[in-house]
Amino acid sequence: MLATTLHAAAATSDVPLLGYAVMDRDHVDSVALLQAACDAPAGELRAPFAAFAKHLREHFARENALMTQHGFFALHCHKDEHARVLNVVGTMEAELAEGKEDRARLYVTEHFPDWFHTHLATMDRVTADFLAQAEG
Ligand SMILES: [Fe+2]
Ligand SMILES: [Fe+2]
Repeated sequence: MLATTLHAAAATSDVPLLGYAVMDRDHVDSVALLQAACDAPAGELRAPFAAFAKHLREHFARENALMTQHGFFALHCHKDEHARVLNVVGTMEAELAEGKEDRARLYVTEHFPDWFHTHLATMDRVTADFLAQAEG
C-alpha cells in the first residue's frame, strides 16, 4: 500500500515524519531518490539507482552512528536490518552493471517501498523516539 502512496506522492509530503530531524530529512531524500529511480526510462535505471544506493549507505550509516553514540537498546537488530538491505542493493547494482534491469526495477517499484514503509513504522520509529528522549 505504501508503494502506491510513495509513487503517487513522489514528492515527499507523504513521508511519515518521526520527529527526529536527521532521520526525517534522510527519509524525505530516500523517497525522492527512489522516485527518480522509478521514473527512469527502460534501459536507464543504472545511474539513478546508483544515486539511490549511495544515499541509502549514507542514511543507514548516519542512523547506525546515532544509535551507537546513544546506546540504543536494539542497535544490533536495526544495524543488521540495514546491512541486509544494503546487501540486496549491492546485488541489484551488480546486475545493473551487467545490463540486467528487471530485478532492480521490481526492487524500486515494489520491494523497497514495502520494506521502507514497515521499517519506518517499526525500527526507525522506535529509534527516533529513543534518540529524541536521549537528547531531550
Ligand atoms: Fe531510516
Ligand atoms: Fe533504519
